[in-house]
Amino acid sequence: MEPLITLRDIGRKYVIGTEVIHALKSVSLTINKGEFVALMGPSGSGKSTLMNILGCLDTPSKGEYILNGINVSHMTDNELAEVRNTEIGFVFQTFNLLPRNTALDNVALPLIYAGISKEKRIERAKTSLQNVGLGNRIDHKPNELSGGQRQRVAVARALINNPSIILADEPTGNLDTKTSIEIMGLVEDIHARGNTIILVTHEEDIALHAHRIVRMRDGLVENDYPNTNIQKVAREGIPEFKN
Ligand SMILES: Nc1ncnc2c1ncn2[C@@H]1O[C@H](COP(=O)(O)OP(=O)(O)OP(=O)(O)O)[C@@H](O)[C@H]1O
Ligand SMILES: [Mg+2]
Repeated sequence: MEPLITLRDIGRKYVIGTEVIHALKSVSLTINKGEFVALMGPSGSGKSTLMNILGCLDTPSKGEYILNGINVSHMTDNELAEVRNTEIGFVFQTFNLLPRNTALDNVALPLIYAGISKEKRIERAKTSLQNVGLGNRIDHKPNELSGGQRQRVAVARALINNPSIILADEPTGNLDTKTSIEIMGLVEDIHARGNTIILVTHEEDIALHAHRIVRMRDGLVENDYPNTNIQKVAREGIPEFKN
């Protein structure tokens, strides 16, 4: 079976005045459908740059990106937007919700771009919010929700288009430990339903939820291996998080 994601020798450089920053030097990776990958590495190692490329928010300066059999490396902005709308769900550290809109409207937003009728949008957004346990908060605005609830809204929004990949860049970065566990539980449920997940985190205990850990350094993949702790974790729980 063809991998969901194939990256070959991906590079991304930024040119600022006379300075050239090689945020990604050469990254080659394959990710299969249904994998749960944690992306780790020091600040500035290129994780978000890579996530932006994976999520078709940005294109590489060199290399090939094949997503679901389609070469997306050289697409126009419009073509990329189309791929984004159908294939990708994003969850960010800062939730990125529209502050003046209700949870329902925030979740329904991607469906507007997808050209779905208003009635259907509302129906699907309601279901998506119910699936993350927020059926009783649909009319709340972001500032009327807790941090964990806001991130649940963001997760519901990410899932609304049935994307093939969920990309999460430090989704628990602004949450306390208890709320982080809740959100990771949700991410695990989503994974268990067959979704592919790529998650950036600085926290080793969060990365232990993943089945594979890719570590980056200076724009390169430093190592890439299965999470050998996963069986132990399934058996005994995550050590730091035990009550
Ligand atoms: N738009 C940009 N213009 C110029 N340089 C950039 C830009 N975005 C990122 N960089 C540089 O590229 C490198 C990689 O940045 P990136 O945001 O991918 O790191 P990161 O691994 O996500 O770090 P963090 O853990 O702090 O989020 C950094 O040196 C950064 O300064
Ligand atoms: Mg980052």
